[in-house]
This record gives sequence, C-alpha cells and structure tokens, in this order.
Amino acid sequence: MKISVIGTGRMGKGIVKTLSPYVETLCWASRNTEHVKNLIGGYEWKNHLLPVTYVDALEADMIIPALWFRDLLPWAKENHDKLTGKILIDIVNPFTEDFSDFTLDWGQSAAEELQRILPATKVVGAFKNTFFQVFNEPIYNELKSDVYVTSDDEVAKKEVMSLLESIPFRVIDGGNLSNNRIIERITLFEREVAIRYGNYPYISNHLFGINI
Ligand SMILES: NC(=O)c1ccc[n+]([C@@H]2O[C@H](COP(=O)([O-])OP(=O)(O)OC[C@H]3O[C@@H](n4cnc5c(N)ncnc54)[C@H](OP(=O)(O)O)[C@@H]3O)[C@@H](O)[C@H]2O)c1
Repeated sequence: MKISVIGTGRMGKGIVKTLSPYVETLCWASRNTEHVKNLIGGYEWKNHLLPVTYVDALEADMIIPALWFRDLLPWAKENHDKLTGKILIDIVNPFTEDFSDFTLDWGQSAAEELQRILPATKVVGAFKNTFFQVFNEPIYNELKSDVYVTSDDEVAKKEVMSLLESIPFRVIDGGNLSNNRIIERITLFEREVAIRYGNYPYISNHLFGINI
C-alpha cells in the first residue's frame, strides 16, 4: 500500500510526523521539492519518507491532500482521472480565510462535495477536528484525541482505520460522509472555544464513555 501526503503546511507536517513511524514508505509532496527534501532531513523517521512532486504523489493508493478547500477542489477536478479507484483521505474544513464562517451552506460538507466531483474515488474523512498542535501531543490527561473516520465506502473506511490503528490517537468509526456536515462545523466551534479559554491551537475532541 503506497501512501502520499500532499502539502507541507501545518497539517501536512503533523500527519507526516504521526504516520511516518508506522509506514514503510510515505511519499511527501510539495510544490517545491527542495523544500520538502529539507524538511525530511529534520524528521526522526526520515528513512521512511520520500520527497515527491504533486504529480508523483498521485501514484499512491491512498492520498492525503493537506490543502485548503479552495485549492483542493481545483486539484481534484484537474486530477479526476488519476484519482479513479484511489482512496482519498479528506482532512479539509471549508472555512473562510478569517475562520469566521463556513464556505458551504448548512446541509453540505467538504467531504460530500469532494465525493460528488470524484464519484469513482473512495473519499474517506479523517483528522477534521484535530488542530495541528495536537499532533505534537495527541494524549492530554491520559485521554487520546479522537479521529472520526467517515466514508460511504465501508471497505475503504476499514482500510483507513486499519492504517491508523497504531497511531497514538483514538480512531472512531464516524459513519457516512454526511456526518461531516456536523464534524466539519464542530472544528470551527472547537477553535472559538479554545481561543476563549486560551489553549488554541491545542484543541481536539474526546467523546466520553466509548469503550475502545
Ligand atoms: N490547521 C489546522 O489545525 C487544521 C485542522 C483540521 C483540518 N485542517 C484542514 O487541513 C487543510 C490544511 O490546513 P493547514 O493548516 O495545514 O494549511 P497550511 O498550513 O496553509 O498549508 C497548506 C499547504 O497547501 C499547499 N498549497 C497548495 N497549493 C497552494 C496554494 N495555492 N496556496 C497556498 N498553499 C498551497 C502548501 O504546501 P506546499 O507549499 O508544500 O505545496 C501549503 O503549505 C485545510 O483544508 C484545513 O481546513 C486544518
């Protein structure tokens, strides 16, 4: 199973740091290959990391674009054919640039929008509630940060859950993609509350009472 992460921003770095100990080869793409090469040099699991271009990243079986929603949709449309049959792990929240609101209407989600324009790709939502700082310390007061994994494709969802089973997060079956209408909006709420209480950007979810 070949996996790639696209983008070297806050989430790209966090996801690469989290996955790299558990996968043999993780391809990491940047628009600037020199930049990603330099980043990899500073990573503990650098032997597991391979710098690639955005185009080469499409060769993987599972692709994690760590891009803004405004950049993700054009990228998805442009690469529609190459994404056919692949698992696309969608971490995106469709927020305005100033985080004051959602860019989609009530009753919509980025995950469903992505699945709509990529009907032959298996879209699996994950990490949408995990703020980037949490990747540095995903366990708080002995509670693991939750990752809700969602998809309309049960097999793809189980594959992603199994990829994530070793990481120091609690991986929860989050049901269908339509649940992202709530999941994505919760992230905006988390942000507001964390800013109020002074712990932004160290904020995530832990649903109490689930025995896994
Ligand atoms: N920040 C969070 O805590 C958080 C939490 C949950 C979900 N998310 C979601 O994760 C996604 C990424 O967020 P982020 O905070 O990692 O964003 P970011 O730090 O701004 O990184 C985005 C990356 O996208 C790549 N990119 C490709 N085309 C671009 C363009 N035209 N302009 C700018 N960058 C471009 C860049 O990587 P290269 O230069 O290497 O190509 C850039 O580093 C967003 O959709 C967000 O909703 C974020």
